[in-house]
Amino acid sequence: MKKIAVIGSINMDLTAQAERLPGKGETISAKSLQYVPGGKGANQAVAAARLGGDVALFGCVGDDAFADRLIENLEQNSVDTASIRRVAGVSSGIAMITVAEQDNCIVVVPGANHCVTPAYLDEVKSAVLSADILILQNEIPLDTVAYAMELGRQAGKLVIYNPAPAAPVSEEVLEKADYITPNEHEAALLFPDAGDLPALLERCGGRMIVTQGEKGAAAWENGEMLCIPARPARVVDTTGAGDTFNGVFACALAKGYPLAKALQIANTAASLSTEQPGAQGGMPTWARVTECAGFEEP
Ligand code: RIB
Repeated sequence: MKKIAVIGSINMDLTAQAERLPGKGETISAKSLQYVPGGKGANQAVAAARLGGDVALFGCVGDDAFADRLIENLEQNSVDTASIRRVAGVSSGIAMITVAEQDNCIVVVPGANHCVTPAYLDEVKSAVLSADILILQNEIPLDTVAYAMELGRQAGKLVIYNPAPAAPVSEEVLEKADYITPNEHEAALLFPDAGDLPALLERCGGRMIVTQGEKGAAAWENGEMLCIPARPARVVDTTGAGDTFNGVFACALAKGYPLAKALQIANTAASLSTEQPGAQGGMPTWARVTECAGFEEP
């Protein structure tokens, strides 16, 4: 199986469960508070590893009490943490999350994720490039994202770019990715003049995969729009569903599945992930995905 390198953020999620999301300037009471590992990079690495992927995570934690717990969690999920740096005098990344109304809102305090610089990547470059598939998101500095994508491209790696959270990124950077995987909101921000979804997919010629929540995912293959419907879910917490989609998509490609099948597997896993609390709590194993959707090894 191909190896996956995830270059991205590692956070401790402080997740409050509430009856509803608060309005601007409003204070509400939560029903519970949980401290659970998260961060888009870590979540995608764990999602791929739960499916049996061979995954290494590249990123930074601080030297606070959260750092040990975050690394321990990755190791328990069989993610290679050898290249993760502990940065002295810095806090680990934190995400303050409110979950309510089958949705969430998130405020991220990046902390050590800011230390995932091009210079750090240079130090871990040989380990990064020992992988076949690179996957990136936007919770580390954007110059590092661009640099990693260029390294991957020059070395002939498959580069998956999940442009989340939404940020303005140049076409020059986007062109370095083999797959770009925004949700609908991120896609509209990246391509404000692209028109409707089929027009956007056609314009990007097979490199664009747009996730659409409970509507599933859409891509472009052989001159046609490919619509992959979502598996209906009993939603508890949608946090990390997009990360599950991306990590599992990378893992399915690493296992050798073709695009449409990889998207079906990723969709099924993303749906399952919403049925348990926490970003990583509901991420399924391969056995669970096959039990739900009957996929077989390629
Ligand atoms: O995508 C979900 C993730 O976004 C959470 O785990 C949180 O850490 C934020 O980074």
